[in-house]
Amino acid sequence: MSDRELLVSGNWKMNQTHFEAIQFVQALAALLRARPLRTGRALSLHPPFTALRSVQTALESDAVPVALGAQNCHEADKGAFTGEVSAEMLAKLNVGFVIVGHSERRQLFGESDEQVRAKVDAVLRHKMTPILCVGETLDERQAGEARARVSAQLEAAVKGRSRAGVAELVIAYEPIWAIGTGETASADDAEEMAAHIRAELESLAGKDAAGAVRIQYGGSVNPDNAGELLRKPNVDGLLVGGASLKPDSLFEIAQAR
Ligand code: PGA
Repeated sequence: MSDRELLVSGNWKMNQTHFEAIQFVQALAALLRARPLRTGRALSLHPPFTALRSVQTALESDAVPVALGAQNCHEADKGAFTGEVSAEMLAKLNVGFVIVGHSERRQLFGESDEQVRAKVDAVLRHKMTPILCVGETLDERQAGEARARVSAQLEAAVKGRSRAGVAELVIAYEPIWAIGTGETASADDAEEMAAHIRAELESLAGKDAAGAVRIQYGGSVNPDNAGELLRKPNVDGLLVGGASLKPDSLFEIAQAR
């Protein structure tokens, strides 16, 4: 564990209507009132676009100490992009964190490294924090290419940025073979890749910026494996999918140690 604030993020993906979202926030708020987050911990919730406004209202009206997050955005601020949502629109809803380049976006919706970079630009331009996702496929891991894949994704999104811009990033290491499969990377594998990511960031932006970046692990995180992952020195948080859909399991993950 480091002195960086640990960030646990719940990525709901395409789950929860806005009614369900409000009930979720009320239940989570009650848990947090009974047992506030440990010092040095932060929690963000990433509902679908249709629930953002409701979740924002539910969080703000009760001053629930949870940040609002989104799962994606378009790289342009406005224009003829039917069905898309811009970073500017998210910023107006007090969104603090935007997941960018999730492997489902890359694989199912064809997002390229260039597009991911442009989305990071858009999120930073509107003063929000990108959670930039990187990670290798099972084939790449078995071929011994996991590090090279992650380095290439990082370089595409990070190279040429100012040190201050890099320091603001959150990077989520999500091995694709561990997402939604119940198969978690071991805490040692997660630490090894997180350390590699930090070293790579250091070569791109210097030691101070690399030391400030929070690196999350994601892929089948649950209340039982969260503590071991969070104890690793380079793992500064968790990006949680399936287990973030129940308030008590997200809460237990956020409190794990
Ligand atoms: P999972 O998803 O926790 O359901 O594996 C993680 C993610 O895709 O962010």
